[in-house]
Amino acid sequence: MNASDTKALSIGVFDSGVGGLTVLKALREAMPHENLVYLGDTARLPYGTKSPVSISRYACQATAQLQQSNIKLLVVACNTASAVALDALRQQMHPLPVIGVVEPGATAAVAARPGGKHLVLATEATVRLGAYRKAILDKDPQAEIDELACELLVALAEEGWNDGAIAESIVRRYLVELDAASRHPDSVILGCTHFPLLRNTFATVFDDGVSIVDSASTTATAARSLLTDFSLTNEQNAAGTLRLLATDGVTRFARVGGQFLGHDLSAEDVTLVDL
Ligand code: DGL
Repeated sequence: MNASDTKALSIGVFDSGVGGLTVLKALREAMPHENLVYLGDTARLPYGTKSPVSISRYACQATAQLQQSNIKLLVVACNTASAVALDALRQQMHPLPVIGVVEPGATAAVAARPGGKHLVLATEATVRLGAYRKAILDKDPQAEIDELACELLVALAEEGWNDGAIAESIVRRYLVELDAASRHPDSVILGCTHFPLLRNTFATVFDDGVSIVDSASTTATAARSLLTDFSLTNEQNAAGTLRLLATDGVTRFARVGGQFLGHDLSAEDVTLVDL
């Protein structure tokens, strides 16, 4: 394939479900001329409670599916898969580039609060691996970091119960796990793709002035730079296309995914695939 054919290929994006659509939305805004193909592995959601071996296997299979669509860049729009499987996915995609969401999220947090006290809210697997802790300390050795696994918040976001008394009391219940000082961070890092939907709840529960950091826009900016570095930017004038794939429940994907993407979707917009 010649260079200009490669530029016209799609960016592949995957998540365990619909949460990664928050990242997809940012990618579309940052690169309106790029063609995108998104895979939500809804049949196997959640990844966050699974073992690293299973998460890695799922992530490699999801990537293989996207490779069948001839992608030029892989965006791992799942914190859990980024924490566990990024090296394996880089090998699988070589020589094409791969970007995860943990590194850009850590960059955003350090930029927002240098030397600050960060609280990472994520899945069990992401917390177990200390992925954000490592990424933040690499950039800012003075930073203080607490990490809290909040699995139930994934289900809340999937259900669309993002605001109100129930969401607030569940977040407050999770905070009981922390010591008193850790409940008052400078920044709250949304280390799970579902959590941007609960942003208003976090803003209510945490202190005024806290920075609430998500990785969607920083990931999109980093992805755009990667395409430039690899000379892979699509030069078409037309708007980019979008294909949506899911491994189960296209109707549910459309209903919940519309909230993440910020506009209505119908089941016909989503293609069912089997990995
Ligand atoms: N997409 C996952 C993440 O960002 C959350 C949902 C899951 O556990 O699969 O970590």
